[in-house]
Amino acid sequence: MNKIKKISVIGSGYVGLIQGVGLAELGFEVVGIDIDETKVKALNKGECPLYEEGLEELLKKHVNKNLVFTTSYEPIKESEIIFLCVGTPQDKDGNADLRFLFSAVEKIKETIDKNDYKVIVIKSTVPVGTNRKVKELLKDYNVDVVSNPEFLREGIAVYDFFNPERIVLGFENLDNKKPIEIMKHVYKYFDEKGIPFIITNWETAELTKYASNAFLATKISFINELAKLSDKVKADIKTISYAMGLDKRIGNKFLNAGIGYGGSCFPKDVKALIKQFENNDIEPILIKATDIVNEEQIKWFFEKIKNYYGNLNGKTFAVLGLAFKPNTDDLRESRAIKLIDMLLENGAIVKGFDYVKKARKNATNLYKFDKSMAFYGYNIYILDDLYETVKDVDGIIVTVEYNEFNNENWEKISNLVKRKVIFDGRNILVPEKIKKFGFTYFGVGR
Ligand code: UGA
Repeated sequence: MNKIKKISVIGSGYVGLIQGVGLAELGFEVVGIDIDETKVKALNKGECPLYEEGLEELLKKHVNKNLVFTTSYEPIKESEIIFLCVGTPQDKDGNADLRFLFSAVEKIKETIDKNDYKVIVIKSTVPVGTNRKVKELLKDYNVDVVSNPEFLREGIAVYDFFNPERIVLGFENLDNKKPIEIMKHVYKYFDEKGIPFIITNWETAELTKYASNAFLATKISFINELAKLSDKVKADIKTISYAMGLDKRIGNKFLNAGIGYGGSCFPKDVKALIKQFENNDIEPILIKATDIVNEEQIKWFFEKIKNYYGNLNGKTFAVLGLAFKPNTDDLRESRAIKLIDMLLENGAIVKGFDYVKKARKNATNLYKFDKSMAFYGYNIYILDDLYETVKDVDGIIVTVEYNEFNNENWEKISNLVKRKVIFDGRNILVPEKIKKFGFTYFGVGR
């Protein structure tokens, strides 16, 4: 196999950036292509547009050495391998919106020579049948299309890139060894580490991604539904999930009850999978329920708060956690934001805090500058200090599963609040410890 000269990565968002930086660290010469000029300029200066542990260090290490960013598609002429890592957001009907993907394919067509051999690798999460469509669009070109879904978790994506649990590769024709050999060469580092490679057809690879996310989401919705019953009958969902998880067939991961899953992946991918069933005239009973349970969970938790106070008008709450999970600045589909919206709609005053500075900045921007949210701007305050946040509040609401909350000075907190009431939406606090300071504690199913 000839040495791979240059790899192009189209899209410098979350997936593309990790892929580009990761491949650069593995020794490849990488060009990151993005339509956003401001982002490209920042990246070339080594400034990372998103908060992800270890990413900025690696970016700085490789940028302007074996990693450059550009808005031009010209570099793909010299790349045998082109990764497509553009976003596939949710459209108004719940389908994956493939506009950015198809527009990137059009630009590839305009740029490359029909006879030059290229491997086009789709890393974006795309509905089943998309790789086939892309190949159809490129049928007059000398290209192979490969499906290579990503399984990175936000917050630990750099670690996940170098330590994947599997590499899934989907091809048009498994008898055509050329693209398989090329992909094995790109991912030689992982092959040598003994990471399992799943070499399959396009459709299987595409669905594996959705199946994985929908299954994890289903585990969460399962335990969340059970938590409602536990709550009523005074069982303890934490003990139940611990006991369940000891059965290795079940496993303890993704069995933490709370206020539901958020983020840019689970909600969107579950909805897109439902659409793929419906587009194939199959009723997705279980997966639809996963989605419904998740949408209901936050409403159920909000009702719990509302029932306690009777009327929320003029009451002040400290919301601890703003992003969709710990160690990220990402507010997309964040349950904390959904809850804050409900509190504000009901006349409450909200003081919000997150350990991640950029999450606080994003929340400030959302409520102060986003036109649709600006209305609420008067009643929400995002603060840099946890103790300032809890000062004079009628209740504390925990919305993100930070273990760090347990290490805060609860004696000090108990002296700062107006009323000693806690709603722990992630079951992360140790109730025995909190109750010692006179707090009334409400969890989810405990
Ligand atoms: C998820 C998957 O875990 C990744 O494998 C996948 O690659 C990624 O989506 C993607 O498709 O790109 P991520 O969105 O970063 O990763 O977040 P998770 O860590 O999976 O958490 C998702 C949500 O579930 C969070 O809101 C979290 O609070 C919630 N969650 C998680 C629970 O409510 N309970 C749990 O037990 C676990």
